[in-house]
Amino acid sequence: MIADAAERLRRAKHIAVLTGAGVSAESGIPTFRGEGGLWRQFRAEDLATPEAFGRDPRLVWEWYDWRRQKVAACRPNPAHHALAALESRGGEFLLITQNIDDLHRKAGSRRLVELHGNIWRVRCVAEGAVSELPDVPLREIPPRCACGSLLRPDIVWFGEMLPAEPLDRAFRAAESCDLFLVAGTSALVQPAASLPLLAKQRGATVIEVNPEPTPISPLVDISLQGKAGEILPALVAALGPTP
Ligand code: OAD
Repeated sequence: MIADAAERLRRAKHIAVLTGAGVSAESGIPTFRGEGGLWRQFRAEDLATPEAFGRDPRLVWEWYDWRRQKVAACRPNPAHHALAALESRGGEFLLITQNIDDLHRKAGSRRLVELHGNIWRVRCVAEGAVSELPDVPLREIPPRCACGSLLRPDIVWFGEMLPAEPLDRAFRAAESCDLFLVAGTSALVQPAASLPLLAKQRGATVIEVNPEPTPISPLVDISLQGKAGEILPALVAALGPTP
């Protein structure tokens, strides 16, 4: 299976990759829906919606401050490094992630689209200006902009639109790639979940890496069952030297 997937990757001229929380699981960051998943312990409606923030910005920020502290203690794992190595082989490439933890960038990925935002960025609710807020833990909860208004995490919450430019880049890559690799996502959250299906409709080979079957598993060309931190490095190693 790995050899077959590697052969298809080697032949591909344009690769698009979609990652989800499973890719960061081996770095120690909890996923959302599996065992121990965040949405099993917390109610998204209380913490990850614009309404929740309007009701209680302190509570929402306390939760994000806790998550920021967790993420700050984590490092990229072999899955992140393998994807950075895949990008560095050249050819057209885009890594689309639903993760907000910045670990792909830390591993060296550069052609990267963050569909759901980034946990280190904040946005002024009045002016919309986006900036980095690296403090861990936060000095002030909830943090405020220099203009005096509240800052919110620059993260997509339930009920919100995804940022247009990253979404557009992701859809264009899914439409035009000849190989789409999807790793560590339950493929339940739209519109990200539709990207591998769009790629498939347009004739791309779709390869999935996940220890569990997902709703898209019956539709993909190759399903590699296992952990991203094991499968992805094996896959990239099987490609052999860069041509
Ligand atoms: P989920 O928690 O829904 O799914 C994680 C997936 O990773 C599952 O399919 C697991 O089987 C798989 N998995 C677990 N460990 C793995 C490992 N070591 N290697 C590979 N796969 C593994 O996370 P997402 O699909 O990322 O949105 O969730 C999508 C979105 O829902 C998130 O971006 C978040 C959430 O609500 C926002 O916060 C906007």
